[in-house]
Amino acid sequence: MFRALLTSRLQAAFTAAGIDLPEGFTPGVVIASDTRFGDYQSNAAMILAKQLKTNPRALAEQIKAALQVEDLCEKITVDGPGFLNLTLSPAALAQRLSVIVKDVHVGVPQVEKAKTIVVDFSAPNIAKPMHVGHIRSTFIGDSLARVARFIGHKVITDNHVGDWGTQFGMIIHGWKTQLDQSKLKADPIHELVSVYKAVNAAAKADEAVLETCKAELVKLQQGDAENLGIWKECVRLTLEQLEKVYGALDIKFDHYLGESFYNDALAPLVAEMLNQGIATISEGATVVFSDGSVKPENDPFLIRDKDEWKPAPCIIRKGDGGYLYATTDLATIDYRVKEWQADEIWYVVGAPQQLHFRQVFAAAQRRGITTKMIHIAFGSILGPDGKMFKTRSGETVGLLEVIDEAIERARTAADEKEQGLSDTEKDEIARIIGGGSVKYAELSQNRLTDYKFSWDKMLSLQGNTAPYLINAYVRTRSIFRKLDGEVTLTDDLAITEPAERALAMKLAQFAENAHDILDDHRPNLLANYLYELADTYHSFYEACHVLRSEGTARNTRLTLCEATSRVLKTGLGLLGIQTTERM
Ligand code: ARG
Repeated sequence: MFRALLTSRLQAAFTAAGIDLPEGFTPGVVIASDTRFGDYQSNAAMILAKQLKTNPRALAEQIKAALQVEDLCEKITVDGPGFLNLTLSPAALAQRLSVIVKDVHVGVPQVEKAKTIVVDFSAPNIAKPMHVGHIRSTFIGDSLARVARFIGHKVITDNHVGDWGTQFGMIIHGWKTQLDQSKLKADPIHELVSVYKAVNAAAKADEAVLETCKAELVKLQQGDAENLGIWKECVRLTLEQLEKVYGALDIKFDHYLGESFYNDALAPLVAEMLNQGIATISEGATVVFSDGSVKPENDPFLIRDKDEWKPAPCIIRKGDGGYLYATTDLATIDYRVKEWQADEIWYVVGAPQQLHFRQVFAAAQRRGITTKMIHIAFGSILGPDGKMFKTRSGETVGLLEVIDEAIERARTAADEKEQGLSDTEKDEIARIIGGGSVKYAELSQNRLTDYKFSWDKMLSLQGNTAPYLINAYVRTRSIFRKLDGEVTLTDDLAITEPAERALAMKLAQFAENAHDILDDHRPNLLANYLYELADTYHSFYEACHVLRSEGTARNTRLTLCEATSRVLKTGLGLLGIQTTERM
């Protein structure tokens, strides 16, 4: 907000000073990294002086003279080699504060041009174990979708579940020969996965079992009624259970258009790509080769083999007529573009699928699709020992297990802190803290780095954790509880103390932060911001009496508490984390 305002004033100052801007140069203002000289800073004069070969300080002085920011700043200085430093006035900060406590978007401006953005995330595979990659995707995707929606985009969330594929040969065989109905009823995902694992092992040991599974798969693909029925039941049971998990985590999808939804589109798509000359037949398969339009190092259809670039085609139909993951993804893009008029599609999927998406995006572009497609990749989650993350029982971890354990641990912690809460209240708090802790542990990390999963760390009340932030929120609420609702905040505000100023400044920066998150799709920028906000709030609370102050000071401080409360709640909400009034 301030950044955008000051940037436009700065640009106007260049015009007013009669300085022509060279092509490709747009002067800008950033939040000062060292706040001793000001709140915002611009190095535009230094960059431009270099190009124009003039003195940067003199140029900065010239811009300063033309800069009209009396309504926003109390001080402008030229420092060092030619930095312009801007210090906001207490009145401007107070004015922002009163917006933050009233505005539904807590002062965050809406985008000028709303886009239709499809967010493709979570997407587990039916009857296959859900792995940590699905956990990361679920949390990152949900948060990015919330942020995009919050700043005014039209967002469509789509869970592209793997509900079709070779695993169903094994599942159907297992269903017919060894399914335990009672276990299936109790925990369908678990039973289907264990049947799949057992048949998979049997098929590895015995060629005959493998053949039977293949035959079951062919029957399914040819529309055999019994096999189709089993497949449908597997999908239904899994989705039903998944929706419960998503529900407990407060995650919603607008659509569940899984892979099978596109089955009928695959044959015509491949035919069309052959017609368009984008695909060719090679050794019986239908594939997309490089068209030589980009440098080999940027070409997803080439792979380096020693000193040579060799073709790495994308297969869209196998020799036996079977279609692939990539074919489905191409059909999915068509659908999202045609039916939803998607301007952008975000794929929140682990880094190992990078080549797949590069190929699919390039193939779609060759088909004339101009929608912006972005692969939002992430690394892995490691156990505390730095190796693959495992559960207590030693299995690879799925979303369900992690959430259950987090809630259970948070419940134990709530019991230990017994403070006159009922069991139902404690259950609710445990659900919020448990789920929130796992989400926050994920979202506070740079998505591209691997991170270590640590129960103790994520559930701790100290440090950069969900409990710490939720606790900061609870503290802001407890002030208002003490006042028993008898408080009407007014616009009579005066920011005088340094601690008040620091907090008002931090609160105002949410307007910028909420937009910056989407520059590179990084929820950790928001997490870090909220952590800093909570810290700034604690320092303010230690430095300034709130309830024992009077008049304008009291109204200002209560308004700061209320604004902090609103920004924390909204910000945590954008991470998909709920708050509780007590803990
Ligand atoms: N089901 C896939 C997997 O588990 C993820 C799907 C991601 N979305 C997509 N459109 N390919 O690896």
